[in-house]
Amino acid sequence: MTSIDSLLHEYRRFPPTPEFTKNAVATPALAEAAAADQLGFWADQARQLHWHTPFTQTLDWSNAPFAKWFGDGTLNVAYNCLDRHVLAGNGDRVAFHWEGEPGDSRSLTYAELTAQVKKAANALAALGVVQGDRIAVYLPVVPEAVIAMLAIARLGAVHSVVFGGFSADSLRARIDDAQAKLVITADGGWRKGKAFPLKATVDAALDQAPEGTSVEHVLVVKRSENDVEWTEGRDLWWHDVVDAADAEHEAEAFESENPLFILYTSGTTGKPKGILHSSGGYLTHTSSTHRNVFDLHPETDVYWCTADVGWITGHSYVIYGPLANGATQLLYEGTPDTPHPGRWWELIEKYKVSIFYTAPTAIRSFMKLGREIPDAFDLSSVRVLGSVGEPINPEAWIWYRDVIGGGSAPIVDTWWQTETGGIMVSPLPGITSLKPGSAQTPVPGISIAVVNDDGSEVEKGSGGLLVVTEPWPGMARGIWGAPDRFVETYWSKFAEQGYYFAGDGARLDDDGDLWLLGRVDDVMNVSGHRLSTAEIESALVSHPMVAESAVVGADDETTGQAVVAFVILRADHAESQTPDEASAALRAHVATSIGAIARPRQIFIVAELPKTRSGKIMRRLLRDVAEGRAIGDTTTLADANVMQLISEKFAAVPATED
Ligand code: WT7
Repeated sequence: MTSIDSLLHEYRRFPPTPEFTKNAVATPALAEAAAADQLGFWADQARQLHWHTPFTQTLDWSNAPFAKWFGDGTLNVAYNCLDRHVLAGNGDRVAFHWEGEPGDSRSLTYAELTAQVKKAANALAALGVVQGDRIAVYLPVVPEAVIAMLAIARLGAVHSVVFGGFSADSLRARIDDAQAKLVITADGGWRKGKAFPLKATVDAALDQAPEGTSVEHVLVVKRSENDVEWTEGRDLWWHDVVDAADAEHEAEAFESENPLFILYTSGTTGKPKGILHSSGGYLTHTSSTHRNVFDLHPETDVYWCTADVGWITGHSYVIYGPLANGATQLLYEGTPDTPHPGRWWELIEKYKVSIFYTAPTAIRSFMKLGREIPDAFDLSSVRVLGSVGEPINPEAWIWYRDVIGGGSAPIVDTWWQTETGGIMVSPLPGITSLKPGSAQTPVPGISIAVVNDDGSEVEKGSGGLLVVTEPWPGMARGIWGAPDRFVETYWSKFAEQGYYFAGDGARLDDDGDLWLLGRVDDVMNVSGHRLSTAEIESALVSHPMVAESAVVGADDETTGQAVVAFVILRADHAESQTPDEASAALRAHVATSIGAIARPRQIFIVAELPKTRSGKIMRRLLRDVAEGRAIGDTTTLADANVMQLISEKFAAVPATED
């Protein structure tokens, strides 16, 4: 990996072309207005939505850090994403071109999507769903995922979407934490040429409920030919209940602060946090940033964000931001390399995608395969490129611009988090002179600083902790069921200053542009997905074979970071199998307990872990081993020999390939 010091000597600049600037959505005037009056700017952005009752108060911060935005206004989020566009005469505009992995496809106009959501809302209401109820959504990327989320929002209920790659245990924990009364799933979803089972995982999750479950019904979308088990009275086919439902449904107005969704994300403890977002502020933030950052011209653009709807990127920049803006999108179910490695580029050519938003890890894996693959397709429709999830290294940035963006498309490197709801830092195409590798500047309406441990701002040219210094409309409204944990995790470090602590390190260069340096806590970023070392450690020690474990995130050429675990086996297991057998069994165990994304790249079976005299595991040293470096300073170790033994043993261990 390139060191930050050499990155900061990045001299290349890519100013916007005059043609781009001429038609750009975000103008210097807009940025200046936002800087002059932040709250006024957000109120103006909010007024672009449809309010059943207009708000008179923009922000109520009296109960900080629990914000109220547009608190006396009422709106319906789904109405804003659907009916409003139909009523404005845009019902025939395509909302989604959907492409399934096997090659089947469907296009839904705004009128068709609205009609489907109305039916689904009636069907859910008939099942007893009312405002405030929590509904778990465990679906592949199919139109029904969009329809389900919007139907839930339309009723003022709360969705908790669980990524389809999570295990039965993870799903179960999320269902229980939110006390979901309904689960919406499918009989399968296509990935890498196979229909993976989802309903079976839901069954497993609900079966492990000795003390019963909050779930009353499981609604099943038919997507594959997978056989499914059926629990009479509990399970229902989506097509049976939705197709039969009434087609008319009037959208009721809810308070701006009505909860919209919970999305679980990993933190520094073993238990994922249910990040809570609400309606008016969130929709304002996501729609405003979606327009301004991606330069959206909804009449002509075809926008494609490759994120799964199970992540925050899918919520904010597949569902809410783009639909509130009346965008036409591509939605793709499968993996980038199925049935051939050019699948994504073939889709860009087929649908003439003009705005493309993906993650650096994907770009790096395409780089490895070589430019011949994308070069075989016509990508001339692409005019804006986006990146999200982790820092994008300058090599990948240049490749992305040259090979996918025809050498001219601006790249917006967008920094944000599940907790921030929407984009916080990004260049604005048409205004910003781009710098490969830097996320550059806060977006209009957002205030960011890089501070020292005491909260004082660092000088240009130095590094520190990234904080948000003013409340913003998309900010999380809490952690579900754990308000104290919300305050403690994000607001206690700089309580005096009232800053939001993001958990990321950053540097300011001499121009004042931001360079993200990764997490400063025990949170890993694997392929742009957040994983907690503590959560994986707790999965490992739940295996009867394991006495102790330590997990670190090691640099990885493709995925950014990779999960590497160090494990001490219980004495009675250490002899009965080879380290390779033990490591294979434990990798599989993590995949079953959390999900395949958490499966360690490598597991090192060790006799001891390096600890300080006070018993704290020294992950820095383990990271040295995992990244194949010479071991750093071991003077604070209780037993300095431990590291020597570990490093000698693993000096030549190759990474496991999947
Ligand atoms: C963490 C948030 C935001 C949606 C995807 C991930 C890292 C995110 C960038 C970027 C450098 C980035 C941060 C952040 N991150 N975007 N453009 N440059 N780092 O959402 O799972 O909530 O993770 O992802 O470390 O804290 P998430």
